[in-house]
Amino acid sequence: MAAAMASRGVRTIGVDIQAAPVEKIKKKLAPVWEPGLSEMILGCDGLLQATMDVNEAVHETDLTFVVVPTPSLPSGAFSLEYVCSVVRQIGAAIGKKDGYHLVVLSSTVLPGATEHVVLPLLEESSGKCRGMGFGLCYSPEFIALGSVLRDFLNPDFLLIGECDAASGKKLASFYANEMQINARIARMTPVNAELTKIALNTFVTTKITYANMLAEICERLPGGDVDVVTGALGLDARIGAKYLKGGLGYGGPCFPRDNKALAHFLDSMGVPAGLPRTVDQLNSQQPQRVVDLIWSLGVPKDGRVAVLGLAYKPNTNVVEGSQSVAIASLLAEAGSSVVVHDPLAIEQARQVLGNSVSYAASVTECLANAQLILVANDLPEYRGALHQTSNQIPRPIVLDAWRFLRPLHSFGPSCYQALGLGNADGRNKARIDRFVRSLSNKDTQTGESQAHAASSAD
Ligand SMILES: NC(=O)c1ccc[n+]([C@@H]2O[C@H](COP(=O)([O-])OP(=O)(O)OC[C@H]3O[C@@H](n4cnc5c(N)ncnc54)[C@H](O)[C@@H]3O)[C@@H](O)[C@H]2O)c1
Repeated sequence: MAAAMASRGVRTIGVDIQAAPVEKIKKKLAPVWEPGLSEMILGCDGLLQATMDVNEAVHETDLTFVVVPTPSLPSGAFSLEYVCSVVRQIGAAIGKKDGYHLVVLSSTVLPGATEHVVLPLLEESSGKCRGMGFGLCYSPEFIALGSVLRDFLNPDFLLIGECDAASGKKLASFYANEMQINARIARMTPVNAELTKIALNTFVTTKITYANMLAEICERLPGGDVDVVTGALGLDARIGAKYLKGGLGYGGPCFPRDNKALAHFLDSMGVPAGLPRTVDQLNSQQPQRVVDLIWSLGVPKDGRVAVLGLAYKPNTNVVEGSQSVAIASLLAEAGSSVVVHDPLAIEQARQVLGNSVSYAASVTECLANAQLILVANDLPEYRGALHQTSNQIPRPIVLDAWRFLRPLHSFGPSCYQALGLGNADGRNKARIDRFVRSLSNKDTQTGESQAHAASSAD
């Protein structure tokens, strides 16, 4: 955020309690990996500075964004420990400052945090009143790792929860004029903005989970194709095509915790929380579903499985909540010999998987002698290497999570399997035959349909 602001000509000071990121910024180096960030920092032309001193930063600027972590508590709620700690320091600095200062909370919080926790803390620590010495807004960013800079500078909309109209007006003007962001702005009370942020993330994860349910049923339908189904669904303006590609579950540092937090919040307000809780549970079951599928393809439990792609999505080194890391872990636990590869996230994965898997230095090394190759991230560099496996004897099964090899694949039907694509193997054919018979003649109900009827009657 700081680099993006400086890139738009805003003099920006980044503050952190850790020395390492501060030193990196001072040396014009990126403290985290993100596409385009190093180049952006180099181009900031002295407008981007860094310090560990909150007081200095508050005195030299007009506006402070608070983007500290809000880790999940066992209940699912977001901890405000770091927010409170830094807000106390900001308040103390505002108390010593002559002019007006606008504070903007950007961290993900649950409804009520800005007005009922941050505001009283700022008033107490500054000795000033909201609207007099300072203003306060809640304004989260809708950014995704791997495209943070683009998302931050080109949002679909800006969300501002304002404690008073003057604060909201000032922040809206900052985004539009200083940051030159041309986007619609939704201004509202903090509590509505806090709810909007978590509602947006949980809505998107519900959509992903719906697409994954369609992928799973398509796998069991001979001829089923989730891309055909979601492609048509996405044409409906009420639904839209984004985040509707069935495949692996969602992961990363944000999405998995948002449904847990919403469920906790709904519980505490006495509202049924079945929807977010179910989405969370279904997503947690996805790695085991993929492992079961691998075994159903005839790969022995002690077989050799290659996993391509460990980051929770391409173009990032983050493995938090990564589905492919969870799959690798389940396979290794079951006795499989697992070898993994990722161009960016090997070291991060090693922290989680330890010695339970082997780490390949190249894609070719990863694929050697594999009985099954799980392609978890659709990276172009995997394509060529995977095509060469068609010369391998015996040929491995390629399990393509996102079907990105499908247009080019020359693997043959027994060697290419994809999430979301049906095949007419014996089990699926028997299932659909049984189902069709049950439609035409109730008396022929057998097996699963009888069991289903019995459980419905319960
Ligand atoms: N990462 C994302 O994609 C993303 C997207 C949207 C929202 N968010 C939200 O933004 C918040 C931050 O997430 P993140 O991923 O950037 O976290 P992070 O852990 O990567 O970075 C937070 C930084 O805050 C620093 N910090 C902690 N306490 C501090 C203090 N008292 N003073 C100064 N600096 C302090 C840490 O040292 C760290 O460098 C969270 O609430 C998260 O939910 C993150």
